[in-house]
Formats: sequence, structure tokens, C-alpha cells
Amino acid sequence: MTDDPSEKTFCEFFAGIGLVDEALRRSGWHCRYANDIDAKKRQMYEGHYGPSPHYHEGDVWQVDQVLARIPGRPFLATASFPCTDMSLAGKRRGLAGEQSGSLFGFLQVIEQLGDRRPRALLLENVPGFLTSHDGEDFATAIHALAELGYWVDSFVIDAQWFVPQSRPRMFLVGYQSELLTPPLVVRAADVELGAVDDPWQKAIDRADRLRPARLRGAMETIEPATGWATIDCGNPRRSPQSISDVIDFGDDQPWWNQTEVDRHSAMMFDRHSRQVELLRAHGGPPLALTAFRRVREGKQRMEVRFDGVAGCLRTPRGGSAKQIVLAIVDGELRMRWMTPREYARLQGAGDYALPTNTIQALFGFGDAVCVPVIEWIDRHMLTPVFEGSKRGVRSQRSGAINCPAAVT
Ligand SMILES: C[S@@+](CC[C@H](N)C(=O)[O-])C[C@H]1O[C@@H](n2cnc3c(N)ncnc32)[C@H](O)[C@@H]1O
Repeated sequence: MTDDPSEKTFCEFFAGIGLVDEALRRSGWHCRYANDIDAKKRQMYEGHYGPSPHYHEGDVWQVDQVLARIPGRPFLATASFPCTDMSLAGKRRGLAGEQSGSLFGFLQVIEQLGDRRPRALLLENVPGFLTSHDGEDFATAIHALAELGYWVDSFVIDAQWFVPQSRPRMFLVGYQSELLTPPLVVRAADVELGAVDDPWQKAIDRADRLRPARLRGAMETIEPATGWATIDCGNPRRSPQSISDVIDFGDDQPWWNQTEVDRHSAMMFDRHSRQVELLRAHGGPPLALTAFRRVREGKQRMEVRFDGVAGCLRTPRGGSAKQIVLAIVDGELRMRWMTPREYARLQGAGDYALPTNTIQALFGFGDAVCVPVIEWIDRHMLTPVFEGSKRGVRSQRSGAINCPAAVT
């Protein structure tokens, strides 16, 4: 059994088109095993990375088959498990739903790995995970990680801090006790909540954008059998990029004809039409906006965003999930569907090798993680913890672990 803790190895569960890998490989992580049930996602993955024998196309619930294909002991396992049941569209069945409940398949694999259990885990889902079943699903996941020996952390990152796409996502990280060396700090059991000299509390307070009030409340009330652990990494900086930076304005783009532009213009709310007219009159460099079609009070509407970011990319199930681009070039208003290349850029993977099938590409990217978000988590949490583990200094569980200088 290979068990070399000095290697940055990981397994990517719910791998889809492999954007977790896209982020982690940039700092030297090696994917030893990837798993997803969807043949079309695998096709995209291999179209981009080339033949990938480590990609196991299969159901995570086929635990024996999964276990047999994982080589050695990976340092890290990631799981961006399906969010379908965390949303209204999925009737908010939460972890009881067939899709989102596949988290338990993943946890069963982790449990049965025994002494090959990864030292760290990274889970990703939508913020609705925190509120699903009035917080019970989130608490269940935290306790399940703790039962497997992981100290836990949780935070929310919005992709729009890195790219012009609004995409808030919730993360859970788990660290085995053997990783509890600097830079990790743990919430001490004997320190009163909110104590000013508690390093864990200080780290949580400094990164206030990562943990909205409701999440902080949950972290204060849930008591995992292990404990909470975090890194004093502060808040991410905001990206100065705007949606106009990722949109193609050329005449070669699939712009709609005037009839289609007029039809969609008629779907705009009056206040949106007035704003568009002001922007057309203003002149200046080419400008892009994005919109979704929605049914509002029985009428088909086109809701336009004016805040310089695209709405959250989704899988194109139905017309309302596809994003529309509005471009103002020399005072002319143009419209079209957003292209797969623009989806890729909005996920921070602008160079990804695209399949010829547009719907396949939109499905792949609509479901994927945003690469710079995972890169940030890696730079500030995963790699520092990996480096810390190599130094191998075991921490005290008292919470009095020295914090290194905060990184930004
Ligand atoms: C949110 S997406 C993850 C996308 C991925 N992180 C990426 O960057 O492309 C969830 C993935 O879980 C996969 N999935 C759903 N149920 C599964 C199961 N039972 N076993 C394995 N994969 C499953 C879906 O096919 C989908 O690709």
C-alpha cells in the first residue's frame, strides 16, 4: 500500500468535467482517482485532459468497486456532491433526496477506506445546504465527518470575488487529528465562546466575509465529537473584473436577428429598458450585460443584471436556465445566448477544450466548481495544511497553537 504523506495526492469524487483537478494541479496536486456517474462529463474530462484511466465512470454507491480502484492512501478527497435536492426545484428533499443523498455513498467509501482514509476532505455544495431541513442536514454532515475522525471547518465563498459570476457556494473541510499542527488552530473546548484571546475565534472574526451570521450561529451551536479547526487566512480580495471582460463582442458571434432582439426587448421591465437606453446613449467602449428569462405574474420577462456580474451558471434544463448576453456596441443593442467559451471563462477555465455539442458543454460548466475559488482554498488551506503535515509538529488540543502570520 502506497502511503507517502509527502505527496500531494487526491481523489476527486463527483468529478464531473474535472474543474477541482484544474485548480489543484496548478499547485502540484496529482489526481489518483476520479469518479462520476455521467458518461458525457467523462467525455468532456477526457477531451480536455486526454485518456484518463483513473476516471471511474460509475455510481459512488458501488462502494466495493470504488474502493478497489483507489490506489494507496490519498492525502485529500474532494466531493462536490449534487445540489439538486438542496434547491426549491429539487423540492428541498435535502440529504434525504436521491441526488444530494449520494453524499452518504461518498462517506461510506471514506469510512471503508479504513487506514487508507484521506487526511483531509473538501466538500462543496450550495448555501441551501446550511438551511436544508432547518439546518439538520448541515449538522448531520458535520457529525458524520467528526465520526470519521475529521476536525471540521465551514465557509461560504462567492465566485464573484474572483470572476464576474455570482455563484455563492458552501464548503466543508475535514482534517484528521494528525494534521492538527500549525497553521491549523482549533476551537478549544475549555475556552468560552467569543473569548478574545482564542486563536480560533480570532481567525473566524478576521475572515468575516467567509462566514455569514447564520453559518457562524450553526458553528457555535453544533458540537462535533472532534471539534472545529480553521486557518487564520483572512478574507479573499474582490476581483476588479467585469462581465464585459469575458464577453466576445465580434461580429462572428451568434447574434440574434432584429426580430428576436425586439421580441426580447419587449420582455424587459420598463425600468430595465430605460437603463439600457441610457447606456446606449452614453457611448463608450463595448459593454455587456446578462439576463435570464423568467415567468413573472404569468408573463414571460427578461430580467437584466446591471451590476457587472453574470448570474449563476446553471445546467440548461429549460429556457429559463440559459443565460442571455446583451451587448451595447456603438450604441447598438445586440443579444444572443452565452457561449460555452464564456461559460468556461466564468468558471475560471477559459482554456478548457470544449466539446462540439453546446448543450453538453453548458451542462458540464453549469454544474462545475469555479476554478479560482478552489485555487484560493488550496493556497490558503489545503497546501498550508499539507506543508504543515510535512513539518509534522503535533499540536496541543488546548487551542493554544501559534498562528503563523496571516496570509491574504
Ligand atoms: C455538482 S456536480 C460536480 C461537478 C464537478 N465538481 C465539476 O467541476 O465538473 C455533481 C456531479 O455528481 C455526479 N453524480 C450524481 N450522482 C452520482 C452518483 N450516484 N455517483 C457518482 N456521481 C454522481 C453528477 O453526474 C455530477 O457531475
